[in-house]
Amino acid sequence: MPITNSRKAHRARERERRALAIVTAGLAMLLLGSGALWLLPAPLVGASSIGGPFELTGGDGKPVTDRDLRGKYVLIYFGYTFCPDVCPITLQRVADALKALGAKSAELQPLFITVDPQRDTPQVVGQYAAAFSPRLIGLTGTSDQISRVEREFHVYTAIRRSGVGRDDYSVDHSSVLYLMGPDGRFLAPIPADEPALQMAGDIARHMT
Ligand code: NI
Repeated sequence: MPITNSRKAHRARERERRALAIVTAGLAMLLLGSGALWLLPAPLVGASSIGGPFELTGGDGKPVTDRDLRGKYVLIYFGYTFCPDVCPITLQRVADALKALGAKSAELQPLFITVDPQRDTPQVVGQYAAAFSPRLIGLTGTSDQISRVEREFHVYTAIRRSGVGRDDYSVDHSSVLYLMGPDGRFLAPIPADEPALQMAGDIARHMT
C-alpha cells in the first residue's frame, strides 16, 4: 500500500533526524567541556552517513584525496593549529597510540584536517602535524573543500571572535577521532580524550 510505504519512509526519516539530533547534542556536550565521551553506538548515528569523498592539500602543496588512502585504515581528527589545548593534547595521544600499536601502525594513516583554512596553510598544518609524529599528515584546503569535508563528517565548528583584527578569533570544534576502514567507510568513533594505550587498544580492535 502506498500510504503504508510513505508512512514507513516518513518514520525512517524521523529516525534519521533523531539520530543526527542526538549526535549534535553529543558533540555540543563535548564542546561544553563536560569530558563526556562520544558514547553513542555507531548504528544510532547512521554510520553510513559519516564520511565521504574529499580533496584536500598536504604540507607539500600536493592534493590528497580519500581515494589515495584506500587500502589503509584511516584515523581522522579535525582541529586547528592555533588551538590552545584540545588539539595538541589529542594529537600527542594519537602519536603515542601509534607507537603503542607497533608494527600494526603501518596499516593506519592518521590525518589532521584543519577547520581553520584561513590561517592553516599547507605548510603551517603540515609542519604542525609532523611535529607530533612523522606519520601524521596535516591537511588543509579551500574554505569550500573544508566546509564540504566538515559536513560529511558532521563536524561542529563555531568561530569565536576575540578582537577586531583579522586573526583575532578561535574556533570551537567537536573533538572526535573517526576510524575509517580500508574501503573508506566509517568504522567507529574513537574517543579523543582517552589515554594513548586505551586508544591504541580501541583502534586495534577494529583492525582485522
Ligand atoms: Ni582544537
